[in-house]
Amino acid sequence: MSLSSDKPVIGVIGGSGVYELDGLQDTRWKSVESPFGAPSDDLLFGTLDGTQMVFLPRHGRGHRIPPAEVNYRANIDALKRSGVTEIISVSACGSFEEELAPGTFVIVDQFIDRTIDRKKSFFGTGLVAHISMARPVCSRLGDALEETARANGIPVHRGGTYLAMEGPQFSSLAESELYRSWGCQVIGMTNMPEAKLAREAEMCYATVAMVTDYDCWHTEHDAVDVTTVIEVLMKNADNARHLVKTVAPSLSTRQASCPAGCHHALDNALITAPEA
Ligand code: ADE
Repeated sequence: MSLSSDKPVIGVIGGSGVYELDGLQDTRWKSVESPFGAPSDDLLFGTLDGTQMVFLPRHGRGHRIPPAEVNYRANIDALKRSGVTEIISVSACGSFEEELAPGTFVIVDQFIDRTIDRKKSFFGTGLVAHISMARPVCSRLGDALEETARANGIPVHRGGTYLAMEGPQFSSLAESELYRSWGCQVIGMTNMPEAKLAREAEMCYATVAMVTDYDCWHTEHDAVDVTTVIEVLMKNADNARHLVKTVAPSLSTRQASCPAGCHHALDNALITAPEA
């Protein structure tokens, strides 16, 4: 399939529980090679009411890859090579606030990166770049996701800070309380370095963080475990797929170049002197 460059191409990275998309037409799974290694899986190409879509299951089909072993650079690079201009990241998360109950979709606008053992940049020795992560989420994508969720009666909360932890173990109570004291709203294991790499690749990026649990701080709820996460995810998978399906056509009418500046992130970021 050839991807046009004058219209947005929507990439969807599906996390736990989201291993496919609803309603995609003309679909085909395709292997995309990257110099950064193997992406998590083949990519699923298709269209949704005329909008070109590319789907990548973050943990691979069958959920084979743990958060710290996801090759985030290969994933973002493969999406970029596939013509993707905007990324919707769909991810399960724990909640640090009573009001953000399981089932709520949080369109976060900030991240705190506490991951420690992942490759976080496409740049390095020979070509050094420092991109701005002051506003890590594309507000235009966030607006579209919020509006679409509200219009479809999906419980949604706009804004919030996502604490990205290394995992794979869940947090201790002391860690959970610490992150709450920092003012974080949700916690997950995957959105960093994904968001940083998307920005380096000059792609719009927004997260739909689907609350599955109250982590371990809530005195009236059991500490998070995988059974609970999967149970809540299954209940909300329809909402997640419906959100993606309905948001895509609204994005297709937008400009290819992001007014929020995501597509120009490298303009003032390179520090290595050009060769004479
Ligand atoms: N994913 C879902 N719930 C989580 C939690 N409480 N901590 C980290 N990642 C999660």
